[in-house]
Amino acid sequence: MKNMRFFMWRHALGLFLVFAILSFIPVLSQEPPSKLVSTDWLEKNLSKENLRIIDVRGSIQDYWQGHIPQAVYFNPEAMRLADGGVPVKLTPSEALAIMLGKMGVNEKTMVMVYAEQGDFKAPYLIWALDYLGHSSAAILDGGFTKWQKEGRPVTQDYPKINPVRYTLPSKLNQEVRATLEEVKELVSGGGGVLFDVRPAQMYTGEKGFWKRNGHIKGAINHFWGEDLKDDGTWKSKEDLKAAYEKLGATLDKLIIVSCGQGQMSAHAYFTLKHVLGYPKVKNYDGGFNEWSNIDGLPVDTGLGESSPGGEVTTSDGEKLLKEHCTACHSLDRVDKAKKDKAGWEKTVNQMIGNGAKLNDAERQAVIDYLSSR
Ligand code: HEC
Repeated sequence: MKNMRFFMWRHALGLFLVFAILSFIPVLSQEPPSKLVSTDWLEKNLSKENLRIIDVRGSIQDYWQGHIPQAVYFNPEAMRLADGGVPVKLTPSEALAIMLGKMGVNEKTMVMVYAEQGDFKAPYLIWALDYLGHSSAAILDGGFTKWQKEGRPVTQDYPKINPVRYTLPSKLNQEVRATLEEVKELVSGGGGVLFDVRPAQMYTGEKGFWKRNGHIKGAINHFWGEDLKDDGTWKSKEDLKAAYEKLGATLDKLIIVSCGQGQMSAHAYFTLKHVLGYPKVKNYDGGFNEWSNIDGLPVDTGLGESSPGGEVTTSDGEKLLKEHCTACHSLDRVDKAKKDKAGWEKTVNQMIGNGAKLNDAERQAVIDYLSSR
């Protein structure tokens, strides 16, 4: 009797283990190796089951001329729609679900997204999927440009796709999406970091298309393109972390990223959330597009608080020069060179290309200092 009970117990345990292992395997196999996959990985896994490659390049003509085998084209404009009169916010999830289903994607499909080299449309889709709670998704690092340059397979054939039903979760993931109210709260109450990742001239208000140009008061400028290397692949984690930390982004803080309409900021969101693993990152897809149009909400122009220490001014130029321009050569090199403002602008940009770590405001301060002495 005792033997029998032992046998049954062991039997049950065995069954339990088998079920546990079986139910675990498909979960494991559905996740991509990371949120950023290499061209090598994708080529090796092109015929992987349950994988859907989505091409979100801006032009359908590019897709016609050649795309990654089995990739389906998804017009990136379909991801955005007017909301309450505010143009270009994230398309409602019900509509996204219908579109994903048409592309043969259900909530368990592994999605690989690509656009051109260094493009924010791919991160925008990843962010939208995050909002739907769809974690099995990744970006092709370096995009189609790198894929093509490496001579990997390209086709003009369309994939054969059977539409499926995409089931939305009962609750959308609000953790990744900032509302206007949340941005207002951060701006008036602090307790987090707000990044504006547009080019510096839009941030300062020199350029822009909105009713009011400039930036959300208190936002720190960090151009999204700075997260990438020249070939459009992401910089190393160490470099990215150092750059964001210098601007005050730490793991404990709420970080809201914004731009004109949530696309460039989706790129910074991807860097912070998926490359660096910051836990509390939200993309404000209303962006300056929404904020600037509401009279009374504070908008600043000029360099603003581009550094957590306050405004960077020309007088910081000397300090920045000593800190940043001596990493690779002595200041002799700089002192010997005689240039006008345009010349310094060119040189400093070149040095940033070489690896000098300056954000836009600091870059400007160094240029101003060098051309004023
Ligand atoms: C990551 C390394 C690195 C950093 C940081 C760096 N440089 Fe350089 N710098 C170089 C290299 C390499 C050269 C020589 C090749 C070249 O011209 O690009 C150079 C050359 C120069 C020259 C001589 C050539 C010319 O164009 O006149 C000047 C002046 C100069 N750097 C200024 C600066 C200033 C100003 C900074 C800070 C904003 C800086 N560098 C930061 C790597 C660096």
